[in-house]
Amino acid sequence: MGVRARVLRRKPIEQLVHPGGGLQKTLGVGHLTMISIGATLGTGIFVVLGEAVPAAGPAIVLSFVLAGFTALFSALSYAELAGLIPASGSSYSYTYATLGELIAWVCGWCLVLEYGVSVAAVAVGWGQYVNELLDLVAGVRIPDVLSQPPGAGGVVNIPAVLIVVLAMLVLLGGAKGSARTNTVLVLIKVGALIMFCAVAFTAFKAGNLKPFYPLGLAGMSAGAATLFFSYIGFDAASTAGEEAKNPQRDLPRAIILSLVVITALYCAVALAAVGAMPWQQFEGSEAALSRVLTDNVSGAIWPILLSIGAVVATTSVVLTVLYGQTRILYSMSRDGLVPSLFAKLNKNGVPYLNTIIIGSFIGVLAALVPLGALADATSIGTLFAFLLVNLAVIILRRTRPDAPRGFRVPFSPVTPMLGVAFCVYMMFSLGFATWVAFLAWMVVGLAIYFSYGIRKAKV
Ligand code: ALA
Repeated sequence: MGVRARVLRRKPIEQLVHPGGGLQKTLGVGHLTMISIGATLGTGIFVVLGEAVPAAGPAIVLSFVLAGFTALFSALSYAELAGLIPASGSSYSYTYATLGELIAWVCGWCLVLEYGVSVAAVAVGWGQYVNELLDLVAGVRIPDVLSQPPGAGGVVNIPAVLIVVLAMLVLLGGAKGSARTNTVLVLIKVGALIMFCAVAFTAFKAGNLKPFYPLGLAGMSAGAATLFFSYIGFDAASTAGEEAKNPQRDLPRAIILSLVVITALYCAVALAAVGAMPWQQFEGSEAALSRVLTDNVSGAIWPILLSIGAVVATTSVVLTVLYGQTRILYSMSRDGLVPSLFAKLNKNGVPYLNTIIIGSFIGVLAALVPLGALADATSIGTLFAFLLVNLAVIILRRTRPDAPRGFRVPFSPVTPMLGVAFCVYMMFSLGFATWVAFLAWMVVGLAIYFSYGIRKAKV
């Protein structure tokens, strides 16, 4: 077979969905929704207001709506494809069925940015909140040398490594156990944000919202690009397709339901925050939500409870996103694009070598790279994968019009095309350094594909 035929070969949907894998089917719509919320609601909402509010002013509330819309277009496409192709490879599997093997590889390689690198980013955020909590409760902080990466005044970020290792151990215990643990963690973090809203609204002053657009519509859009990171992860349920009891019905529901819950919660948190504290005071504040409570509400207990919620929130993101990453590599390995040890299951049905290898890789990143660089790399990789998912919907409607769809994107192809346009717009809002890192990542990915995957793929 020639190179051109190889890179363009596609995998039939039936082969992607019923590959005879050994994963157990234990997850219902509740678990799946919790996986998506667990993967999304994390470091972003707890840290991002410090950067996004100075860019947008009180209009930050609308920035959350705008970013939510960008996520929604892609979420609709995910919902259609997750129901149609409930394979654990998520968008990697969807592109394999539509755009051919090379693009599927590129997509899978981007998902390592979305999942693997974001776990590292969130682990770094976890370490910061642990430090904040230690400070609030005991007045001590872990010294920078052991809690910051090189270049930021430290040598190695030990707390970030610690949470990655803990999550890896929980996942090695099996999918059902970790889904249950995740549900408890999600309830705690949603509770913490609701508590934040309730407490912050007691200090609400309508005057803080005037003027609503101090930096114009451009400021509002810039705020949306900055906080897009906080929406990443709603698609995590799609990586659990093969462990879902009724994926056709439950995956689309879980993806859309989780995004609606998250958008509503984020808008409420943003409104409560800018209503309680004048927007200019957000500049430079790291633990922004904690600061809103410390400076504007009486009672030392509230920032402490909130910081506990933040630590729990980031724990659950690390857990669910690391889970998603192992399942994507599991799918790619079963297809022969990465070595077979990534698909090797232990007696609990857990891809254990995969979990250990990727956990170690993420641990090293978390130990040595600063948060901002990790977050931007995550965003650009995610947006590119979202773009491919929107394209895959358009293509599959033509090539497989009659395949059974549990959910159909309304007004296709207009809606998925708008999804593509939003993704491109957001990608171009990211900086030059992020683009350089992204292109370098792609070069490495292509080198791996042309030296390994192209020969070993089983189609
Ligand atoms: N959306 C995830 C977070 O904000 C990545 O932590």
